[in-house]
Amino acid sequence: MRAKLQRPQTIARNIVVMLRNVLERIRKPIIDGVETKSIQGVRKVDDEYRSYTYIKKDPDFSHLLSRAKYRRLYEEVGTVDANKNPVWREEWMNYFRPLPGRRILELGSHNGCNLLYYGQEGFEIDGVELSSSLIAIFEAHKKQLPDEVQNRIRVFQGWIEEFFTSDRYDYVLCTEILEHVIDPLTVLVKAEECLKLGGEVYISSPEERCGNNTHVRGVPPNELKIWLSQARLSPIKLWVEEGRTFCHARKDLL
Ligand SMILES: C[S@@+](CC[C@H](N)C(=O)[O-])C[C@H]1O[C@@H](n2cnc3c(N)ncnc32)[C@H](O)[C@@H]1O
Repeated sequence: MRAKLQRPQTIARNIVVMLRNVLERIRKPIIDGVETKSIQGVRKVDDEYRSYTYIKKDPDFSHLLSRAKYRRLYEEVGTVDANKNPVWREEWMNYFRPLPGRRILELGSHNGCNLLYYGQEGFEIDGVELSSSLIAIFEAHKKQLPDEVQNRIRVFQGWIEEFFTSDRYDYVLCTEILEHVIDPLTVLVKAEECLKLGGEVYISSPEERCGNNTHVRGVPPNELKIWLSQARLSPIKLWVEEGRTFCHARKDLL
């Protein structure tokens, strides 16, 4: 008789425990420190995006249809706090090992992280950059370097696609640029044009599209191979590592 009475009690207790567990799970994101932090983190990112006019978390690529809008987007990139301090990024520059005394050109030089780094390493390096707000950050940091370093670094403001120079370089850097531009082939054609015969372009880009709307595509190796051949550049080494496509390619033909 007792056993019969206990069974419904046990069932009831189990139901209560189960409901408690379910409630616990529902409440966990609110009461658990880590979970709460991640919700706040997402809110913080959302708030940050709300404060931008052109930078969007969503894949809004309308800037590709208007050069004025495209330029304004990259002016806004220069107002983002995270971009105010130029940081050389080992994760994509690691495989770029320029020989001493060689000249470097960077297409899309951002806040000058590579210009400042390689300039201090003793290289003559030029950059092409559209955004005057990013160039202003670069200039402010450049000013703090010794004159002999400053004299090795130059930046040209404007569109890569319209950049013209009679100088020819040993290396052209296309790091983290092909995923942004209107037409990646035009940028590679420009890289080829600026290289000396035998000079090399160094490329790094995410293999698949990721991040905010400044990334308009991924750069998978198969597509990159086609663009390189159309730009008359011969891949020396092309590989993917941790979701990033890397390539060294050479200008073999005049
Ligand atoms: C992700 S950043 C490049 C990062 C840098 N090359 C590095 O390796 O750290 C892309 C840069 O290209 C610039 N950019 C994008 N499209 C451009 C264009 N068509 N002409 C000139 N600069 C451009 C942007 O303003 C931005 O500073």
